[in-house]
Amino acid sequence: MNSRKEAMLPAVARFVDALRGLHENEPDEAVRWRTAAERLRQLLRDPELKAHAQGWPTSPAKLGLEGKHANLLFYEDPDHGFVINGLIKKPAAKTTVHDHGRSWTLYGVLDGAESVLRFRRADGGRPGELPSRAEVEATETAQVGAGHVDCIGPWEIHAEYNNDHARTIAVIVRSQKSGTFTQNIFYQKDGSVEQYYGPQQIPWRLG
Ligand SMILES: [Fe+2]
Repeated sequence: MNSRKEAMLPAVARFVDALRGLHENEPDEAVRWRTAAERLRQLLRDPELKAHAQGWPTSPAKLGLEGKHANLLFYEDPDHGFVINGLIKKPAAKTTVHDHGRSWTLYGVLDGAESVLRFRRADGGRPGELPSRAEVEATETAQVGAGHVDCIGPWEIHAEYNNDHARTIAVIVRSQKSGTFTQNIFYQKDGSVEQYYGPQQIPWRLG
């Protein structure tokens, strides 16, 4: 993993610079991350990044098991704590229904096609809770493909379901590294909720 930008793809190094600038100059987190989402949309068009992604690993098997997908970890910012992750999901793979706790996330589709779902608490529960039981219901589903960026705010409940015949490759930007905050997983089959510390992080060189 790059602790700074050495040997990083040029377009990614420019993206990191832009994100560092936003952290230094934009105190409003919602504005910062919506602006960063625009910048990630530009990055997803980079041919060199697309070519590099063809070599990203689809194993170990943890990269696609039980809905708890491991992430490749490309970069962690030493000053601001944001990270850049990669995620490869096999055709028909589904994530759990989950939130990202207090963190902000940009989920960018580099290749493939999938459905992005949003949910709401249907039991009067409020964002920020770590409940043992909860009722959630889907509020919207969007079919998305390469170039799409989903900006996921703190405690927003969501899932991603791959299309049957397409794997997806995603570039994910998180405001802080998984493992440093608690997330909820909502199991609709029985209403139970599990707390966990997010996907395992597998260091990988992006350059
Ligand atoms: Fe997620």
